[in-house]
Amino acid sequence: MLLTGKVALITGAGRGIGRAIALAFAGEGARTIVTGRNTHLLTQVVDEIRASGGAAEAFALDVTRSDDAEEEGRYRQHRSSSGRLPEGDYGAYATSKWGVVGYTASLAHSRRSHGIRANGINPDWVDTDMARAYDLQGNPDWITEEQIAQAALYLTAHAPEVMTGQFIDIFGVCAYDRLDGVTTMSQSADFSETFYRDHARRYAAVSHNFIQSVYTDMSHPALTGDTALMDRLQELVPAGSRGLDAGCGAGARDVFFYWQKGYDIQGVDAVEENIQEARRLHPEIANRVSVTDLRQPLVHPDLSFDFILCNAVIQHIAPDTALGVTLPEFARLLKAGGVLQLMFKTGSGIATVYDRDYGADRTFQLYDPGEVLGLLIDRGLSVVPAEGDKLGGVMYFKDPKPMDHCVLFARKDG
Ligand SMILES: C[S@@+](CC[C@H](N)C(=O)[O-])C[C@H]1O[C@@H](n2cnc3c(N)ncnc32)[C@H](O)[C@@H]1O
Repeated sequence: MLLTGKVALITGAGRGIGRAIALAFAGEGARTIVTGRNTHLLTQVVDEIRASGGAAEAFALDVTRSDDAEEEGRYRQHRSSSGRLPEGDYGAYATSKWGVVGYTASLAHSRRSHGIRANGINPDWVDTDMARAYDLQGNPDWITEEQIAQAALYLTAHAPEVMTGQFIDIFGVCAYDRLDGVTTMSQSADFSETFYRDHARRYAAVSHNFIQSVYTDMSHPALTGDTALMDRLQELVPAGSRGLDAGCGAGARDVFFYWQKGYDIQGVDAVEENIQEARRLHPEIANRVSVTDLRQPLVHPDLSFDFILCNAVIQHIAPDTALGVTLPEFARLLKAGGVLQLMFKTGSGIATVYDRDYGADRTFQLYDPGEVLGLLIDRGLSVVPAEGDKLGGVMYFKDPKPMDHCVLFARKDG
């Protein structure tokens, strides 16, 4: 056994690559300390190691909290190939990854006199839950978690003593496609469909209790939360108007709300479980909600609406599709003078955050407000300006996760 008598501390060991490394190290005789945020998952890993005769203990540790991280230290980085390869429009993401390469080199240098080495691994797409959240189908060319663990074992047990501040690239064949300028992500790639399937009931409760609906850091003082937007939309569009809630979510809270206020509203969502939850909670609107995928043009070409709501939905749709299909469809489906309420997460690339209300990581596509706004203007919509203290203009806020958002009302010209 390669690691008999050694102690291994593995961060993020509850799942994915961290878990695979913990199992591999324990399998080679290391006493393995598994850490992460989710104690339930950590306990499962410890049980698995002990069941196969290894030695393991679990500690809750969040390396993003400096008090936790300083106490334990961390000397190996495992991160993606964006620290080595061009990454299309993901410049900011690649910059952060290159930053880790520099950080590791500095760490190696500063800790050399203590006999501590710092090396890293640059994997391309690894077949983890996170990758599957992005592309449900997966890809046979993805690297396995166990293959990454083999490289970690090499760095720990076989690499020469002098090897520090280095990275091993494990790109697989997907990365070569990227070098040729071909994206390996299918156009139908979307994020978090599985999340909504698994959490439909919880989502409906969080939404109906307005748990994540209170905002901070608002650019407009009256933008206090979801209810402020609901109040303003009712001023912009009279009761009786025909509306669409595009991506209405589990339980279709807003469809029910506007229906009660006398609006002729329908809701669509890609996830069957979300629609079932809406019908269970609000049988009165059962025939007003249906399953529809907003990555495709809406099926009834003759439909038209006085208002369309699309809150926190394009964050789950790949940018080419959201900007090429979903938003242009909204512009087409609005009547002249109709209002779009659009809310989306801002930034560049893709972000994964831990959502404590679900005890799960969630992955979101971020959007540049300028790009979204430019598209709407090109399609004949104009932002409804703020009037006095009433909501309007291009507004920004943070939700409790916290993530940055943009929200606006836009009226179709004519
Ligand atoms: C964060 S929730 C927002 C729900 C609701 N609009 C709200 O504000 O509470 C995002 C919703 O978008 C739905 N969604 C994601 N991709 C979609 C797609 N391609 N077509 C339709 N709905 C989609 C998800 O199923 C989920 O219900």
